[in-house]
Amino acid sequence: MTERETWATRLGFILAAVGSAVGLGNIWQFPFKTATNGGSAFVFVYLLAAVLIGLPAILAEFVVGRRAKRNAVEAFERLNRPHWTVVGALGLFIGMWILSYYSVVGGWVIRYVFGSATGAYFGAPADYFGAVSAGLDAVALHGVFMLLTAAIVAFGVEDGIERATKLMVPSILLILVGLAMYAATLPGVADAYAFYLAPDFEYLFANPGDVIPFAVSQAFFSLSLGMGAMITYSSYIDGDESLVSDGGTIVVLNTLVGLLAGLVVIPLLFAHQGGVSETAAGGGASALFVAVASAFADLGAAGRAVGVVFFLVVLVAALSSAISLLEVVTSYVVDRYGVDRKATAFGLGGGLFLVGTLSAGDTAWLTWFDTVAYQVLLPVSVLLGVVFVGWALGPVAVEELRKGSGGLPRAAPAWLWMLRTFVLLGVLGTLVLGANTLYEMPAVPWV
Ligand code: TRP
Repeated sequence: MTERETWATRLGFILAAVGSAVGLGNIWQFPFKTATNGGSAFVFVYLLAAVLIGLPAILAEFVVGRRAKRNAVEAFERLNRPHWTVVGALGLFIGMWILSYYSVVGGWVIRYVFGSATGAYFGAPADYFGAVSAGLDAVALHGVFMLLTAAIVAFGVEDGIERATKLMVPSILLILVGLAMYAATLPGVADAYAFYLAPDFEYLFANPGDVIPFAVSQAFFSLSLGMGAMITYSSYIDGDESLVSDGGTIVVLNTLVGLLAGLVVIPLLFAHQGGVSETAAGGGASALFVAVASAFADLGAAGRAVGVVFFLVVLVAALSSAISLLEVVTSYVVDRYGVDRKATAFGLGGGLFLVGTLSAGDTAWLTWFDTVAYQVLLPVSVLLGVVFVGWALGPVAVEELRKGSGGLPRAAPAWLWMLRTFVLLGVLGTLVLGANTLYEMPAVPWV
């Protein structure tokens, strides 16, 4: 047997995890979920959820991965809890579910790289989005994005991904800071900040079912939880470093990228649409594309260059997340069934392309897939993971987290206690509130 791969350095692990976490979830979803779910009320719940639920939950996945040193499904067997492999399998399923529409949005980003270069959307950004977000065009670019993802996974350019990630996170931060500074100069920015940042408990208490499930699931989605990704990544950790401080770093960096994206998009929506109601009416998916595109259009010729750079960076962030989504499933199929890696990557990519044509045909489908993931799939998967680590593993998990946490002797037992109490309650509450809404499936676009 060949020896299992490990991360070369501790920083390598942290950056890879941040690279997986930072993606469309931060730059595209976070601002629009904020805009359509109560602004600051959403941000408030999201921040609480990231720290109080997201951090303990990411540590739970790290503990499973580092202890088992196995892929996300077989890890449960390795830990002598074979019945729990269904949790790993559910995670893989959710990863595929999400990738099917993630790739459609990735296709939009590709389109906007070119649209920025030619200034195609400069005249009427909202109409442009309407024209390119659904239909044959969107299907084709969704195909291109999925093909790129599958090709990279098939050829396994590990080095490439790692290096791209190291460049990507700092450049995203820099570009977002620049855009946020520009956004701060726009008319109506005070209203935008008030909507985004001034605590609004009234809205929260009036609409808990809108705010809480989306905000909590946003924390899960953005941290790549519930899909075996963090189990897989931590299974490559060699040695006993402090998982608590690694997890803390990852949560902070990831949250920062989302908050910055909001500081860009929300003021732009206020400046160009006088608020967020248009965005809300359109289901929200357009927020990033219309708002940021309007800003680039205002900047004129310079806007083209800025637009190309911006959407390229978003593309790299989206690709690096999509790659790891596909890689988690691919590595399992390859390990378990001995199928050829290339065949697996392209086969899965092809299948998910077909599923994603629904979302590419009609953004109502995209919203439906996204909503089901947020309201049902992610909370269920994280809940099962918490029950597994909190009860089925219990003391074993505490022992594993203790390793390397020398300076924080009480952290591990406190963490277990947190998992068993309010992490559990928080996720359950999210599910109950979210299940409230029954969804009608949209019509199939091609019939
Ligand atoms: N966190 C990524 C983002 O914010 C998307 C994502 C969710 C992901 N789950 C994942 C990426 C699992 C890789 C693996 O865009």
